[in-house]
Amino acid sequence: MNECRKVIVKVPATTANMGPGFDCFGCAFQMYNTLTFEVAENGYTFDGFEPQYENEDNLAIQGYHAVSDYLKAPRTGLHVSIHTDIPICRGLGSSSSLLAAGAIAANVLCDGNLDKDELLNLTTRIEGHPDNLAPCLFGGMTASMMVDGRPVTVRYFISPEIEFVALIPDFEFPTSAARAALPKALVYQDAVFNISRGGVLLKALENGDERLIRLAMDDRLHEPYREMLIQGSDTAKRLARECDAMGFCLSGSGPTFMCLTKDPEFLVRIREKVAEVFPSWEVRSLAVDYRGASYQKLFS
Ligand code: HSE
Repeated sequence: MNECRKVIVKVPATTANMGPGFDCFGCAFQMYNTLTFEVAENGYTFDGFEPQYENEDNLAIQGYHAVSDYLKAPRTGLHVSIHTDIPICRGLGSSSSLLAAGAIAANVLCDGNLDKDELLNLTTRIEGHPDNLAPCLFGGMTASMMVDGRPVTVRYFISPEIEFVALIPDFEFPTSAARAALPKALVYQDAVFNISRGGVLLKALENGDERLIRLAMDDRLHEPYREMLIQGSDTAKRLARECDAMGFCLSGSGPTFMCLTKDPEFLVRIREKVAEVFPSWEVRSLAVDYRGASYQKLFS
């Protein structure tokens, strides 16, 4: 019998797309949400969530049920508390972090023995695409594809010379709105533009090849349609260029912008410039997380 009724799950922030890798590339960072799940008699209670998320639609509960139902475990009450560091609806994977945390908690508390591939599969059914969930669960840089409805993921190494600097606006941009902005069909040449850059970018990131990153970190599949909806995007791009970022992209569906650099002075320069124009934006240097989601059982 499983006597563990409480588990703490630590889940990393993620960026998705990374320029040309729409719905495919992702990377995990050392910025975490920490959630505690405790089995209760009835109903759902919460600590640390905004009031609108204190219900069964909470993504942590949805992730939990995706796995507990798959395991055919009877539904119980749950108490879920959260300590958040990942900003909500900013393109840094907060939704995926909740889904992944719930899935891991259910696997532990319902005596499941599912591996991370299966947890990725079950949570991707909810999120619809695996590009944030994969790095959140596995850590590191990932490329994922859907095959017959199941995600298949490989991991890549990123040169430690590369620093990621996130420009995080003070407003939300829901993924649903960002996806609604996309066209229904693509020009063939735009697909080729992205596929070719995607292949080159993965190798360039591994090798820390600045020249190739500058050439390959570009996109025609989603950024042009979304940037016009994100206030300040032209200015953010200009500031990144002025500070000589070697790469610049929308993080996931935005509104955060991700800069890549090898220059140790970049962070100071971009922080100063952003503070002048967007004083309420946060500028944050993010180190890659190679561990992915982790948990600790609590026995009381
Ligand atoms: N690939 C997704 C998108 C990431 O760009 O819509 C955000 O969930």
